[in-house]
Amino acid sequence: MKIDVAFSATHVDELQLRDKNVLVIDVLRSSTTVITALANGAREIIPVASVESAVKISGSLFGDVTLRGGERNGRIIQGFNLGNSPLEYTEATVKGKSIIFCTTNGAVAMTKCRYARMMGVTGFVNISKSVELLQGVEEDALLLCSGRAGATSGFSIEDTVCAGMMIDMLLEADAAAVELADSSLAALSLYKRYARSIPKLLRECDHGKYLAEIGFEEDLALCSKVDTIPVVPILQGTSVRLKRDDRQTQETEEPAQNVSS
Ligand code: MLT
Repeated sequence: MKIDVAFSATHVDELQLRDKNVLVIDVLRSSTTVITALANGAREIIPVASVESAVKISGSLFGDVTLRGGERNGRIIQGFNLGNSPLEYTEATVKGKSIIFCTTNGAVAMTKCRYARMMGVTGFVNISKSVELLQGVEEDALLLCSGRAGATSGFSIEDTVCAGMMIDMLLEADAAAVELADSSLAALSLYKRYARSIPKLLRECDHGKYLAEIGFEEDLALCSKVDTIPVVPILQGTSVRLKRDDRQTQETEEPAQNVSS
């Protein structure tokens, strides 16, 4: 299987993702939040690309089982129930709920995958499960780093390091089965540079510093943890959900927030 990495979703359009197997990575924080919410029993996450779409869609859904979650500039959107901190998505808040999810980069990257063959959601917290998913697919795959729309390059180092870690794990498992595009070699080198200092990287990267400044320092530690939430959300139709076997495993385990915090 050939593994390619897109360093930023901001430059990618949905037709380029058509028929591809894609893993969307937004370590800070959309991937981590979606994984946490579903592990804590949310029924589904419905990613949308704009606040207007979120308002429009939620108008046609049942108020008591639907929540609106997301951010602009890292902060909760006015009129929404939840922001984008994984710490808000507790079992008590999200169990059984459909969550319309609108974030600047991560949710947009997810919506761009609507014509993909397969789309999974990856962060450090579920990296081994994400690797297993790719190994099961046995086809070429694209690791789509969400990146940062606000930066001219669109680049965010934490997403690329996460992609590099996945590549390292795939190579460790079976190097002969994996072919690396140039982008994958670049992500792998970057991962090797930061492998021993991921929590520090998240504190020092551009978006990590910004989140700490606006009061979300606790999220950085949570998002840097490796393999604390063993599930992979998958796009099914227009919503992101857990596969049945992941749901069953979660039902017998602790809620994700207790695992991660
Ligand atoms: C995004 O989707 O741009 C992020 O997850 C931003 C954030 O940290 O809330």
